[in-house]
Amino acid sequence: MFFLAIETSCDETAAAVFTEEPRVLANVVASQTELHARFGGVVPEVAARAHLQRLLPVIDEALTQAGVGLDQVGAVVVLNTPGLVGALLVGVSAAKMLALALDVPLIAANHIEAHIYACRLAAGHDIFPCVGLVVSGGHTALFHCRSALEFELLGATIDDAAGEAFDKVASILGLGFPGGPAVEREAAGGNPAAHRFPRSFLHEDRLDFSFSGLKTAVLYAVHGQGVARGAPPPPGPARADVAAGFQQAVVDVLSAKARQALRRTGLKRLAVGGGVAANRALRAALERGAAAEGAELFIPPLVLCTDNAAMAAVAVEKWRQGRFAPLDLDAIPAYAGS
Ligand code: KG4
Ligand code: ZN
Repeated sequence: MFFLAIETSCDETAAAVFTEEPRVLANVVASQTELHARFGGVVPEVAARAHLQRLLPVIDEALTQAGVGLDQVGAVVVLNTPGLVGALLVGVSAAKMLALALDVPLIAANHIEAHIYACRLAAGHDIFPCVGLVVSGGHTALFHCRSALEFELLGATIDDAAGEAFDKVASILGLGFPGGPAVEREAAGGNPAAHRFPRSFLHEDRLDFSFSGLKTAVLYAVHGQGVARGAPPPPGPARADVAAGFQQAVVDVLSAKARQALRRTGLKRLAVGGGVAANRALRAALERGAAAEGAELFIPPLVLCTDNAAMAAVAVEKWRQGRFAPLDLDAIPAYAGS
């Protein structure tokens, strides 16, 4: 049984082919980074237009790499929520068209659940139930994942997402887009203890996050208290110290809250997904944190952390249950649970 999956929720045009095991046969991602870099962030209309141009070649490439013909595809999967509505619609429309033309079932999967399922894919065995930490450009949330498809929200950011904070701090420091990898590189040369940036809710008994105050603290550290704008600082140790201090604050909060969630749920598995999970400092801190709680940590390799279509293999679980989507399936921009 071959599944063809499509992901177009933000700025990566992605297609994958996998089997029901699930085993990934192809995982193709066309990044749009160069299109958005000059705007300093993802421009939704530009993203949607680029998806339109790239999706069919990306699907072709995935099928070719997998050695699977269109006539062998047994189901079409699309990540239809959450994301940018115009971007999602490109993938949803293509998936509906393919399912109709091939006369095979259409399966809708959730991008957030897919990020956690990337851990299941990488592990090669079942990881549920577990605590799920999703840290991406649009979301920062902790879940009690009872199964691949049953998520109970434990806490989430009340303002910026962790990845969004990385992107905004990269912009303040003049490090360009995308911000996460750039801040990580800059932080490598800095002293994480040079600044003591705020760590929201760190000692509170709640599993929510807030990164907006941290971003403002970084801004003031660069330009002075109360100064909201200014030229980015020059390269050098001072700039690296700010990047390192910021990254440390994010890492401290994420790892502390993940540990709190493990204790609260009594679960002994922690699965982490989303673009920020590519951050090496975070990976190391979560490794230590999980070990301290006697829990096993699952973090996928980098290609499965950032947006991709292989993680849509979560749809295999729906396929087993016969949960197919109608051909009037819609794109749903906001996360609304499982
Ligand atoms: O999951 P993802 O690819 O897309 C969304 O679903 O949002 O996450 C993208 C986010 C961006 O904000 C990017 O800056 C961040 O992940 N990111 C990182 C790193 N690599 C990507 N953040 C910190 N360190 C990294 N190495
Ligand atoms: Zn994502």
